Amino acid sequence: MWCSWPVIPLLLLLSIAPMLAEVVNSMSDCDHFLLEETPPQIPGVLEDGKILNQNRYKPICQTYRNKRRFVTLYDIKNKIPVFSAYKYRGVEGKGRPKKHWKIEPQCDDQAVDTDFRSNGMFDRGHIIPSSYASTENDKRSTFTLTNIVPQAGSFNKGSWSRMESCIRCVMDKYCTNSSGFTEGFVVTGAQPSFSNILNNRVNIPSMLWTAFCCYSTNMEAWIASAHWGNNVPDDAKNKHLSGIYFKNKNIPIFS
Ligand SMILES: *[C@@H]1O[C@H](CO)[C@@H](O)[C@H](O)[C@H]1NC(C)=O
Repeated sequence: MWCSWPVIPLLLLLSIAPMLAEVVNSMSDCDHFLLEETPPQIPGVLEDGKILNQNRYKPICQTYRNKRRFVTLYDIKNKIPVFSAYKYRGVEGKGRPKKHWKIEPQCDDQAVDTDFRSNGMFDRGHIIPSSYASTENDKRSTFTLTNIVPQAGSFNKGSWSRMESCIRCVMDKYCTNSSGFTEGFVVTGAQPSFSNILNNRVNIPSMLWTAFCCYSTNMEAWIASAHWGNNVPDDAKNKHLSGIYFKNKNIPIFS
């Protein structure tokens, strides 16, 4: 199947940079958020569905109120997610729930609240945004520090946030499956930096990336996009992130 998260090879090619959490044994224990139950290829981390260093990378089935909401591959050395994956189904309510950060007892090697309080320059940047979550409880489930990276404030609230809204609109408009439901598969991740560390503990990623893929009944095609941005403050008020869109067979339609 062509639609296998083009962002990963793309990033390597360009090389620009490139609740309750249930820690499961392998990605396949929590794969129903992934297109065709197939995890992305992350060279050196996750290859052909296998986690290469299982002591370091932990798959987490993000569970809230007894329901699995999305999946994260967490890097306990860097204390940030490698990626989170979510099946977008449209959004029911409006607005953000009251923030209440959850710390999962199963993962004691994770970032904690004080790590983020130590330096006011960084937001707690969502990997799967609460704005993509379908229900109120889905939204709440995204407020876990295992779905968070230190993100430059104006990047988080500016160009990254505008891109997220834009992709959500694209999915609302085009990602309707053959049963008539909104359905899009989203994978978002962070490229760790070599040595930029928050509070001596948490890696400040150098770059964030995101991709979605879906079948579009109205376009009669599979469509996908990939976007990425360096984790630095936006240098302009209307900064636009680099992105690329695909329709069938990995042919870029515009960027
Ligand atoms: C369409 O999407 C809905 C919501 O994700 C899902 O329950 C259903 O199985 C999908 N239908 C097909 C044909 O993929």
